[in-house]
Amino acid sequence: MNKPTPIPAIEIEELTKEFTIGSTTVRALRGVTTTVSGGSFQFVLGPSGSGKSTLLYLLGALDRPTTGSITIDGRKINELSRDDQDRFRRHEVGFVFQSFNLLGNLTAIENVLAPFLPIGVSADLRQQADHLIEQVGLGDRRHHRPRELSGGEQQRVAIARALLKQPKLVLADEPTGELDHKTGGEVMGYLRRLREEQGATVVVVTHDESYIEPGDKILRLLDGEVVSNTQPGE
Ligand SMILES: Nc1ncnc2c1ncn2[C@@H]1O[C@H](COP(=O)(O)OP(=O)(O)OP(=O)(O)O)[C@@H](O)[C@H]1O
Ligand SMILES: [Mg+2]
Repeated sequence: MNKPTPIPAIEIEELTKEFTIGSTTVRALRGVTTTVSGGSFQFVLGPSGSGKSTLLYLLGALDRPTTGSITIDGRKINELSRDDQDRFRRHEVGFVFQSFNLLGNLTAIENVLAPFLPIGVSADLRQQADHLIEQVGLGDRRHHRPRELSGGEQQRVAIARALLKQPKLVLADEPTGELDHKTGGEVMGYLRRLREEQGATVVVVTHDESYIEPGDKILRLLDGEVVSNTQPGE
């Protein structure tokens, strides 16, 4: 019997991250221990500066913790070699981050295909990308460059890119931050579809609690520490 593809359960143990600039050390994470269940829609909430983005960066192996560990699907990602971390990021994680979103010199469709450009793009993959860009409602914008798109349209390009990878883990940092509530709701809907249709584990940082639905998980951070990790109503 074929084993089902494992959905990543994430175990975070005693995670700390310190940034030292000159003589000042910022303790962005101060010993975070928690679990994200495989296939869950996990929100990360907390005031500005509480360590939410730092946590997402570490989960995506974009940075290494000062101490502690992150185990995804049984692998300690903080201990992987640089090459293995690159592969993990490129093939296994869908990033929807506002800061490093789209490549300005590429069109929408090229941005969707960007993660695959180094390994080659088959006709089949190009067709899937075309389909996805239609699905996120940007069929008539596929040849536009990011600066010719609105904030919401850019986010949808990023989501189409994440969908094409079929990642088991999706990390979204304030994906609705600059969007009106209706467009924000649509973006959140696409992220929910990644979970429902592809069984992905989706971790979303937000300031807007109105997007939370029954069944979602909510991790609250304060000053780099976990306040709670619950479901609504718990
Ligand atoms: N690269 C860095 N160098 C130095 N300090 C940093 C760096 N990244 C984050 N910090 C500091 O770490 C703390 C946590 O930052 P982080 O970006 O994780 O907060 P956040 O919860 O995402 O906040 P926001 O809601 O404003 O995005 C902050 O005090 C921040 O100034
Ligand atoms: Mg942040």
